[in-house]
Amino acid sequence: MLGNPTKTTKTKRNMKDLLSLKISLHAEIEAILNKQIKYEAYSSSLYLAMSSWCDDQGLDFSADFFAKQSEEERGHMLKLFNYVNARGGRAISPEVTGIPQEFDSFHSLFEQTLQQEMFVTQQFNLIADSCIQLKDFVTFQFIQWFLEEQIEEEYVARRVLEMFDVIGEEGTGKWEIDKSIPKVAYSKE
Ligand code: FEO
Repeated sequence: MLGNPTKTTKTKRNMKDLLSLKISLHAEIEAILNKQIKYEAYSSSLYLAMSSWCDDQGLDFSADFFAKQSEEERGHMLKLFNYVNARGGRAISPEVTGIPQEFDSFHSLFEQTLQQEMFVTQQFNLIADSCIQLKDFVTFQFIQWFLEEQIEEEYVARRVLEMFDVIGEEGTGKWEIDKSIPKVAYSKE
């Protein structure tokens, strides 16, 4: 026997209402956060490739530095991923392609790192802007942590590039820079 059509429509409407209650993220914010998940995954894979390149060149401290950076980026990706799902959205497991495996020089790794971090900062600024426009102050607050993190990440890349300017890569310079990498740290004070 077929069900009462009026009752079925009503049930469907109730389901729809329930679903919209479950989703508290604006579709545009969900999409922009999913894009960011992909950028963080790209950063993680890029730094892992850099770590491998350094390892191959005998630049052990830098290999370790980039391996840790890669882990951090995966952490950023998961933080965003979990947030999208927790707010009733649907986080997308990102497909990452086009990771370079070869690099021109030791110096170019940090130039590329700085470029990547500046790009990521720009993206978070765009997310912040969308949050304000769509009055999503919860996500706006959530991404403050990432914006703070970007200050540190850009700072570290710039400091290392300064070391290249001061020490230079000639002679034992490259090894000196490599040895100094773990000492580069950002302090809020
Ligand atoms: Fe997660 Fe370095 O941006």
